[in-house]
Amino acid sequence: MERRQYGSIEKNPRTGLIKNLRLKNRIAMAPAERCYATMDGFMTQRYIDYLVERAKNGVGMIYVESTYVDPPAREGFSSSGFTMTS
Ligand SMILES: Cc1cc2nc3c(=O)[nH]c(=O)nc-3n(C[C@H](O)[C@H](O)[C@H](O)COP(=O)(O)O)c2cc1C
Repeated sequence: MERRQYGSIEKNPRTGLIKNLRLKNRIAMAPAERCYATMDGFMTQRYIDYLVERAKNGVGMIYVESTYVDPPAREGFSSSGFTMTS
């Protein structure tokens, strides 16, 4: 049977390989808006704890919530931001 690939992730169901990054499994947690960041978009311990808890419980990869790069484009109050500061 022809060996197919999905993007750069191997088809082997027990392992995932994205370039040189090996995942412990191929389960990926879909992104969800938690809005646990600060009002100006900074990461909080609450959001870190939330992500760590999911990682400990088995998922191989986590998509985090949407992260704005321009404050007017943010999803809601307390969304994560990744912006340049001067
Ligand atoms: C940035 C982003 C944030 C999302 N946030 C939520 C969310 O807060 N709640 C939710 O039910 N789905 C959210 N979704 C959609 C889920 O991640 C997922 O795609 C959806 O539940 C459909 O799942 P399926 O593709 O397995 O059917 C978000 C998607 C993206 C891209």
